[in-house]
Amino acid sequence: MLCKYKTKFAWSLMAMTLSTLAYSKPVPLPDPGIQGYRFPEKKNTLMHWINAPTFKNTRSIHLHGWGLWTSLTTASGETEFGLANVPVYLTWLSPSEIRDLPKVVQGLENGAQPVRTFAIDRARQHTHRFKENTPPAAPAPSKISIADSSEKPDTNIYVTMGYNPAAQAFATANNLFSLAALQKFYDEGTGDIRSIPTFPINAVATKPTYKVIRQASLLKGSVYAMPAWPGTPAVTPAIQKNGFPESDWPGCVYINTRNLGATQNSSIDANCKVGPKPGNTYGLGDFIYYPITTANQTQFQLLTKDKALAAGDIVVLMAMHVTSREIDEWTWQTYFWTPNPAHPPLPSSSTIAQSRPAKLKGAAAHYAMAIGYQMVAPNQAITGGKSVGRPVTVYNPYLESDFSANVFDAPPENIGIYNPATNKTFKATTGVQSNCMTCHSSATIVPSDPNQQTNALPYLSNFYVSRDNPSYKGYLLLDFLWSIQGTAK
Ligand code: HEC
Repeated sequence: MLCKYKTKFAWSLMAMTLSTLAYSKPVPLPDPGIQGYRFPEKKNTLMHWINAPTFKNTRSIHLHGWGLWTSLTTASGETEFGLANVPVYLTWLSPSEIRDLPKVVQGLENGAQPVRTFAIDRARQHTHRFKENTPPAAPAPSKISIADSSEKPDTNIYVTMGYNPAAQAFATANNLFSLAALQKFYDEGTGDIRSIPTFPINAVATKPTYKVIRQASLLKGSVYAMPAWPGTPAVTPAIQKNGFPESDWPGCVYINTRNLGATQNSSIDANCKVGPKPGNTYGLGDFIYYPITTANQTQFQLLTKDKALAAGDIVVLMAMHVTSREIDEWTWQTYFWTPNPAHPPLPSSSTIAQSRPAKLKGAAAHYAMAIGYQMVAPNQAITGGKSVGRPVTVYNPYLESDFSANVFDAPPENIGIYNPATNKTFKATTGVQSNCMTCHSSATIVPSDPNQQTNALPYLSNFYVSRDNPSYKGYLLLDFLWSIQGTAK
């Protein structure tokens, strides 16, 4: 038994106060009306798809991921950040906003007008477990210059997080962002394996990731350039040492910021030497994007920590991680913008793209998906399984590709994945080989230690980890959500 605490599902008083005061209105996932998709899906159905991986069942998993994406990107009818009718996911509060809600509500009662912040987390993943408690450095500039100029594609990336209303209510009811409350869960537990109560099956968390187009730094006054993802690289000693960050990607993609519509384009400038040409230059309508206006300028300045950001600049959605508690080890899928969505590069594939439902339309249909609801294939039991079979590699080019071997550590020891068919052991050492579920299985905290660099187990790459791994002794398991470790105070 991982958890024997009584869990509270009731909406807190705070949520009621919030809706009355209209600070934000988080919208639950709508039903997109896709045949074969529903949310939450039954755990037994999902486990059957995972454990009996026929062509049809694997397609059902892919469709489930696309169904989540369709409903996350559906227009919510709500206004957030001064923008009308934003996508559903953008109405969700971030973990730090949820943690700070009591203060916000109090301010509102006193007549204050606090603005929602976009609450950026600049990829704290990279600094975790590093000795100095320094904020992560800005990403390296690209090594490539664009077509006979000194301009470089923009390697900056901005990471946010969101909890759906069910996850928010559960986190609030159980006070999960309080170190004292986490300590209480630890103290009330028994044995070596102790956990927070587990989230309800309809809990969803996201990690939306953006680029910011600054009018001040456009090519020829109107063209934005960013690195183009070339697909999963072969792992070299250089990639083990430095990861494969955007600054090393060889190609460019361009956006003509004067074109608000969509294009039919599908190519990239493979070495940035051609420059912006019709085939490789996209319209803003090919992206989910948000204009920065005088109304939301302050919020986006907070997001980018850049006071120079001005009305007229544009925030573009590049990627999003999504996890849901429909199964005990959560479902894991990730999306990234891609030039040719019918034939995206690894870690996505044309096969995954083939399951896209007709209901997925417009800019949201310009994104690729990578997906994996298991650590190894064939799937193993949650406890007592073996790290054997084939690896299930799932990562996002914009979020994990720059993880070098330094990011990963032990315990639990990286035992690799032994394949009895080939008699070989696969050993992942970098982000471009990683698996979401493996790394999130280590989401833990020692609540008595407020130092985020030292109070959790290290990050793992890609192998099978049993839910009763002996390394968990002395740690509180966080039901796979790392954001609790990063947000709790
Ligand atoms: C190397 C470890 C690692 C890997 C691999 C990883 N994550 Fe995470 N993830 C984190 C950490 C740490 C956070 C907390 C936010 C932060 O610090 O940036 C996080 C946050 C998240 C969140 C926000 C909610 C939460 O607390 O979990 C989601 C959703 C998420 N990741 C999904 C994914 C998906 C999907 C994948 C695979 C495509 C993935 N992650 C791969 C470490 C990892």
